[in-house]
Formats: sequence, C-alpha cells, structure tokens
Amino acid sequence: MLKDKKIVIGVTGGIAAFKAAALTSKLVQAGAHVKVIMTESATEFVTPLTFQALSREPVYTNTFIEPDPTKIAHIELADWADAFIIAPATANIIGKLANGLADDMLTTTLLATKAPIYMAPAMNVNMYNQPAVQRNMQQLMEDGIQFIDANAGYLACGWIGKGRLAEPEEIVEYLEQAFIRSDNKGSHLAGKSVLITAGPTQEKIDPVRYFTNHSSGKMGYALAKIAYLRGADVTLITGPTNIEPPLGVKVVQVLSAQDMYQEVIERFEQTDIMIKSAAVADYRPAETFEQKRKKQPGDWSLQLERTQDILAKLGALKQDQVLIGFAAETNNVEENALGKLERKHLDVIVANDISQEGAGFKGDTNEVVIFTKDGHRFEVPQAQKVEVADKILTEIEAYMKRNQS
Ligand code: CTP
Repeated sequence: MLKDKKIVIGVTGGIAAFKAAALTSKLVQAGAHVKVIMTESATEFVTPLTFQALSREPVYTNTFIEPDPTKIAHIELADWADAFIIAPATANIIGKLANGLADDMLTTTLLATKAPIYMAPAMNVNMYNQPAVQRNMQQLMEDGIQFIDANAGYLACGWIGKGRLAEPEEIVEYLEQAFIRSDNKGSHLAGKSVLITAGPTQEKIDPVRYFTNHSSGKMGYALAKIAYLRGADVTLITGPTNIEPPLGVKVVQVLSAQDMYQEVIERFEQTDIMIKSAAVADYRPAETFEQKRKKQPGDWSLQLERTQDILAKLGALKQDQVLIGFAAETNNVEENALGKLERKHLDVIVANDISQEGAGFKGDTNEVVIFTKDGHRFEVPQAQKVEVADKILTEIEAYMKRNQS
C-alpha cells in the first residue's frame, strides 16, 4: 500500500524523536519515498544526518536555506507530498498549527499543503491532559487533521500515563489504512457514520457470577475494520472480548444488554448504517445481588426476565438509517431469518446456521446467507470472518445503491 507513496515526516523536539528514525526506516522499507523536515528543537535530540542516511534525501531544517533557486523549498515539499506525518508531535507544534502559525520550515510547509496531515503526539501525561493542549487537538481534529493516539505507559520523564508516541509499526499501519481509505473514496460507505455492535453481553448475578454466551466478537470487529477501510466513520459498541480493536475505529466498551441498549440508542439518530452483530442476551437475572451469594443447601432457582430487544426497538425508531441484523439459527434458517427481517423492520439480515462446522460464534471462519428487504438473497460460502465481512458490506452497499439510501 505504501509503495511509491510520497510521505513527509515532520520531526519535532521531544525525546521520542529517536523513534522517528525507526519510522523513517520502516516507511522506506515499505517502498515509500520519504522526506524529513526537522524543527530546530528536534535537531537537539537527533541529528539531521540520521534521517538523511535513512531516507537517502536531504533533510529540511531551515525555511531560508534554498539550495535550488528555481524552487521554493517549502512550497515544493507541500505540493510533492501525498501525506504528512508529524511524529513526535509536541504540544508546541499542536498549538502552533491549531492557531495557523508559520514560523519555521515545518509549519510553513504544513500550512501550504493540501495533502492530509496525521499527527502522532508524544509528551508528558500532564501536558497531554492540559486543557489548552486538549483544546488545540480538538481544533485540529475539527480542521480535518487526524491523530494517531499516544499510548499509555512509562514516560521518559518518569511519569506513568498517556503520552508515549505510538509505536512506529502502529503509525505505519495507520498510514497504510489511510491510503486504502482514500483509494476507496468512491465507496458508498465513504464518509458514512456506521455503528456496529459486537461480542457477547454479560448479565450480572452477583459480584462473582454472570450469564454470557459464546460470542467471540470476531465478526463484528471484522465488519468494523472493513467498514473503516471503505472510508466510513465507525463506532464499535462491544461487549467483553479478547480482541484488539481495529485501528481508527472508535470503541465503546459495555457489559450488559441494558448498557448496550443505552449506548446504541444515544447514537442511533446520527447513524447512517447500523449493524447489530452482537449476541445480546435475551434474558437477565430478575434479581441481582450486591454481595456474593453464599451457597446454601439444596438447589437454587433463578428467575430470569427479558432484556430489551435492541434491534426491534431500532426497527421501530428507524427513519433513514439502514438497519442490519444478524440471525443465529440452528434450524429453519431461511424462514427464521426472513421472519426477523420482517418483524424487526430490517433492511438486511445476515443469517448463519450455528450448528454448521466452521460457522457462527467462536471460530475464525463463518458461512452466511444474506437476505435483503427488496428480495435479494446472497450466499457467502465458508471463509475467514474478514472476507465474510467484506462480502456483507458489499451486499449492504449494493442494497443502498439500489434503494438510493
Ligand atoms: N438482538 C438485539 N437485542 C436482543 C436480542 C437480539 O438487538 N435483546 C439482535 C442481535 O444483535 C441480532 C438479532 O437481534 O442482530 C437477532 O438475534 P438472535 O439472537 O438471532 O434472535 P432473537 O431476535 O433474539 O430471536 P430468537 O431468540 O427467537 O432466535
């Protein structure tokens, strides 16, 4: 994905500047053409020669050094780049850019470019949380700059908290995805707001016991990843899983069906496409215990009550949203799925026969049949969940195009 892409790395003056060397090397190894601009402070941490050797290009540090009189270096660079990545981005560069200041080679180039700008902040946790810094980041996000979030952990200053520069591998992956997203600008999902639920729910009995189910969340996470790569703005509301959330996707963690209901309802109005792949509990204990319930002689009967059917509620509330449900069945798959499509006012239902080997909740593969409200039926034979997710989203896009939604 990065082959022949023209990338400018802006290195600013933080201790994490040394990691920008690894980033340069990885991008060059991935086939990108890399040019580096360093701020004066950055040169206090790492020498320009390091970046020159790794990028095999001259390093820019001063707006007023113009080696080629036929060109103006910062405009030339601004126009040359397919993307800018500022790593590490200090509080200072964030503040300057948020306010449109241009007083050195990096800031003048950034103001002159039309290419997308990505920023990977790194700083002390208290600086990171400083209202002025947060405000500036917010402003930049509103201006269309994307942030590659800092990680939490041990910081060079001795504090533990959020502020570590994202690892070079993470930044490379983020950039790869960003290029895929911009190549997919023609996708029907580009710019759409997609809300996806995934995973099981946990229904509490007491502080040590709960009901749950076998859902791994893999199908929902795969859908979130592919929807993101197709250019959508994706929020994933997930029950407890062991999977790393896909990069670039906003993640909201929930436990119970009731939590999931609230998080979904809150966002539904602003959503274009809602995919309900979570395995939501249909029942929860009617009574929960604040203290651990001690075992007692004899059996124990637990009364269960119905949870809210989130999908049915969304079907009732739905206006222009495209609503997609899942049906996990062990028999009469088609009949049951079509019944749910109708009853819950869905646009699309993805049915899987969970009694089949290689389909359903736990594994890495799935096998589904997709039914749409306008009468289309599409079978996806057994494949990795990411591939199945790709096919599901293609069918959703095709449905949206047919129905102009
Ligand atoms: N679902 C939901 N809220 C619930 C239960 C299910 O939103 N309380 C959603 C699931 O996310 C899924 C769809 O409903 O998209 C179908 O779930 P499934 O368990 O297959 O079916 P149910 O509607 O619960 O019906 P049944 O138990 O009769 O199969």
